[in-house]
Amino acid sequence: MNSLTNKNIILGVSGSISAYKAPDIVRRLQDLGAQVKVILTEGGAKFITELSLQSISKNKVHYNLWDEDAELSMGHIELAKWTDAILIAPASANTIANIALGKANDLLSSVILASNAALLIAPAMNLKMYQSHALQDNLLTLISRHAIIIKPESGEQACGDIGIGRLVEPLSIAKQVAKQFISTKLTGKKVLITLGATIEAIDPVRFISNHSSGKMGMALINACIEMGASVICIYGNITTTLNEKSNNMPIISAQQMYTKVMNNIAGQDIFIACAAVSDFSVKNTKNQKIKKDGKNLILELIPNKDILADVCKLGKKPICMGFAAETQNTLKNAQKKLKNKGCDVIILNDVSNTDFGSNVDENEVVFLSQNLNKKIAKNSKKKVAKKILAIFIKEYL
Ligand code: PMT
Repeated sequence: MNSLTNKNIILGVSGSISAYKAPDIVRRLQDLGAQVKVILTEGGAKFITELSLQSISKNKVHYNLWDEDAELSMGHIELAKWTDAILIAPASANTIANIALGKANDLLSSVILASNAALLIAPAMNLKMYQSHALQDNLLTLISRHAIIIKPESGEQACGDIGIGRLVEPLSIAKQVAKQFISTKLTGKKVLITLGATIEAIDPVRFISNHSSGKMGMALINACIEMGASVICIYGNITTTLNEKSNNMPIISAQQMYTKVMNNIAGQDIFIACAAVSDFSVKNTKNQKIKKDGKNLILELIPNKDILADVCKLGKKPICMGFAAETQNTLKNAQKKLKNKGCDVIILNDVSNTDFGSNVDENEVVFLSQNLNKKIAKNSKKKVAKKILAIFIKEYL
């Protein structure tokens, strides 16, 4: 299945009567999972309003290269970096000529020049204009620069003529955009991932936590997003950067992580529990800072609920992958967790070796399931994440 999950698309709308179809094109792109931002050319604005495109796309419509607000932050460069593909639909003869000449005299042409993203052009115009040598030469120039032309259809035209030049239907245009992206078995899947360390308060300034940085979980999130999955990221204390394409939900304590996961797990296809969740929390958290008085301080710890085990017990449970950070009898302990928590996969981390595991950039793990025991050799967490997912996809999808 081709999908646009996690993909950012710029729709350039130029001057053609068929610009009235632009809102529908935005909708069809969104239906396939894309985020859409519209650039309206001067000609496009004669046929469709900024307001309708803004309402449908739920994003500000961009049209002015000399917009002071945008220029402060280099608007055309930002848009060029943001987008994964640029679609011009409808593409007028004037806009096509402008781009073929490599001009940068309006926002759309400037963004195209500043971007390496795929460029798709859906011409729409009178048949004589479409058949003209000049227009056809311009299209050939653009094809030689790897632009994809979505050839117009034949039929009755707005001017009354009959022939080629009608804009292709919005759904078909959206599907052609989706075809530019590789689809994998994770494409369109819903994945919920926990990562980072939970924090259990002792008093307002002290807490119990652990060394998890969130790096392993983030590597899995980045790989899932790259492969087209739609990701919910529930994160505790982390020292790594979030991916803006996931739905990111912060938590502090194990109890908060439990609630967040349970509130969001319905409908998820895959649950990956990479977080280092505290097994205990402090029974009587103090509201004021505890003062030392020369005596021993005894903290009573109470067990936290096990998120992974409870997700595995759900009636319609997702495929569940847990992690086990172990320092001794690593294989035996991990196999015990696989069985006791009822999950499909456990990724064993031997954290007795400080070269990998928590708070470092590399990892070495063992992929364990009922039938599998596969070592993934020491490598960057990015590569380890990809290998984990490759085995997972082969076994479960
Ligand atoms: O974040 P990094 O610095 O990159 O480090 C990555 C990591 C070493 C933290 C990660 O790879 C890892 O091993 N995470 C799990 C660590 C852990 O707490 O394991 P555990 O054996 O205590 O728990 C087993 C599984 O149950 C885990 O999937 C855990 O998320 C889950 N669990 C544990 C307790 C609890 N109350 N609820 C849970 O869901």
